[in-house]
This record gives sequence, C-alpha cells and structure tokens, in this order.
Amino acid sequence: MAQFGTVFCDHMSIARFENGSWGEATIQPLAPLSMHPASHVFHYASTCFEGFKAYRWPDGKARIFRLHDHVARMQRSAKSLHLPVPDANLLAGMVEDLVRKQLGDIPEPPSSLYLRPTLIGTLPNIGAAAAPSTQAMLFVLASPVGDYFAGGARPLKLLIADTIARSTEQLGSTKTGGNYAAALGPTLAAKEQFGVDQVLFCPGGDVQETGAANFLLLSDEEIITKPLNSSFLYGITRASIITLARDLGYRANERDFTVAELLDWAASYEAALSGTAATLTPVGRLVYQGREILVRDGSAGPNTERLRRALQTIQYGEAPDTHAWLTEVS
Ligand SMILES: Cc1ncc(COP(=O)(O)O)c(C=O)c1O
Repeated sequence: MAQFGTVFCDHMSIARFENGSWGEATIQPLAPLSMHPASHVFHYASTCFEGFKAYRWPDGKARIFRLHDHVARMQRSAKSLHLPVPDANLLAGMVEDLVRKQLGDIPEPPSSLYLRPTLIGTLPNIGAAAAPSTQAMLFVLASPVGDYFAGGARPLKLLIADTIARSTEQLGSTKTGGNYAAALGPTLAAKEQFGVDQVLFCPGGDVQETGAANFLLLSDEEIITKPLNSSFLYGITRASIITLARDLGYRANERDFTVAELLDWAASYEAALSGTAATLTPVGRLVYQGREILVRDGSAGPNTERLRRALQTIQYGEAPDTHAWLTEVS
C-alpha cells in the first residue's frame, strides 16, 4: 500500500458558504480547486480539518468510526477560527455520501478509508488580517490507507521538549494547520539531532502531547493522561481508550503531570501515543537533556496491546459496538 495520505479516491464532496448561508453539497470528480489568490486562507491561515476512518466489514457495508464526534470537533475548530460553522447534518451527510460513493474502494481491515474534511476561508481580501472570512469552502477527501502496524508495533522514541509549546493558549484544541506548522521545525530538528520519532511537548514541564497524537501512561490497574484544557487537541482515540479502559476495569486518571513525574514513572508504566492513524502506539524510549531513558524495558507493553486490540476489534466488527461509535453506510 502506498505511503499514508498520498493516494486519493476519485471523488470529493464540496460545499460553499456565501451570502450568509451554506449551499448544497455536491459530489464531484477529484480535481484541483480554483481560488482567488487573495483568499483569506492563503494569508491568514483560516483553515481547519478533521481526520478519521471508515472500515469495510465482511458484509460489504462501511462503518465510520465516531463520525459525530469528529463533526462536533470540526464545528468547535471552525468556531474558534471565526469561520462559518458547517451544520452537523451538512458535514456528516457529505462524509456519508462520499463513503457511499467510494464504498468499492475501501480496503479490508486492518486497512481502511481515511477521511479528511477541510474548511478554508475564501474571502478575497488581503486587508482582513483582523477580520473573519465571511466566505468559505468545505470539502471532504477520501484516501485508502494501509495498516500503520504492518511490520509490527515498533516502540517509538520521543524527545521531551520542556521549553517550547506545540501551539498557543487560543488554538491548542483547534485542529488547524498553523499548529502543525509550529510543531514542524522542532520535530525536524529533534529527528536530526536525537534520532527520535516525535517531540513530546511539555512547556514549563507540563506533559501535553506530540505533534499529532495524545500521550498516555498505562499500568495493569490504571491509565494516566492529561485532563482536557485549551492547550491540546481532544483526541477521539484518547476518549475511546479511556472509555474502553474503564470498561475493562482500569482506573482512568485524567490528571496533569510533570516531566519529573514522567521520568519517575518510566520504569514502571507503559507509555503510548493515541491517534486515528496509530490507534495506540507504544513508546519505548524518552530523550531528556541529552540522556536516553527506557520506558520499562523499551518494548511494547501488554496493556498498550490489550487496549489497542479492544479498540480495533470494535472498528473491524469483531467485537460489539457497545458505545454506538459506528455509523453504517451501505
Ligand atoms: C495534535 C493532535 N493531537 C492528537 C491527535 C489525536 O486525535 P484523534 O485521536 O482524534 O485522531 C491528533 C490527530 O488527529 C493531533 O493532530
């Protein structure tokens, strides 16, 4: 399977906001977009997006994982950027229609169809740095993707960065391009300097998240992760893992913790990253102040594996969807 995110289905869904209201969504052949070069998004980064997956089950139908939670998060992102907020029905309908159209292109689990709704400000005004875009375009892309774990769940190595933030107070929980732009430089530098996979952003010692995933600690009894606040993205996978952990009898401890605590716990807790692409990926090593610290013995831990499977079996239709997380499309 090609590299994640580089192959697309041949249709997209698209809708426009003009004169104060959303027009009807249409499904069109995937094609370049034509836009005024003064469009707000190009100059003032008025953009947000979502990422989630649809799975094809043996019955030939598709199941979209937590569609309505992703739609709600996109609405919150749009609101925080003062972009026109798409109606939940409009956006969910665009995704479902596109999945229906491309049903035959969804590979079987563990592969899936990755869905990428994107909202951009299209007001042609380069004097609108301090004004919202009152025109917008919403489109949904679909991309068949393979198994992140093909070749095994290799434990990741993270650099602990305790002086820089991934984002800002205003936009930490908004899924907007600027946050990824801010994380890119530090991540590339860390890869080059320390050979790590990702940076764990811990400004002022507060353990937050990596560039594109949430961070969790796990033991046989407990999972620990940061409580929701405006500094980081509210991962849907994070929320799902917390729910499944509680179902399985773990204590889910949503609490702030520091780099010093993390380093103390590394010998006894498993660490993992959660996100749509990686589900739950083990973290085997941390780098802090030039020193490498093993997380337990550096290998993937049993609790990480157990919770990842608990999530995947629901997504693949091997276990009942007791939390009504799946939207069926046929
Ligand atoms: C910054 C950031 N944090 C966390 C996540 C995980 O979110 P989710 O589990 O909803 O994919 C993502 C990925 O979408 C992300 O980009």
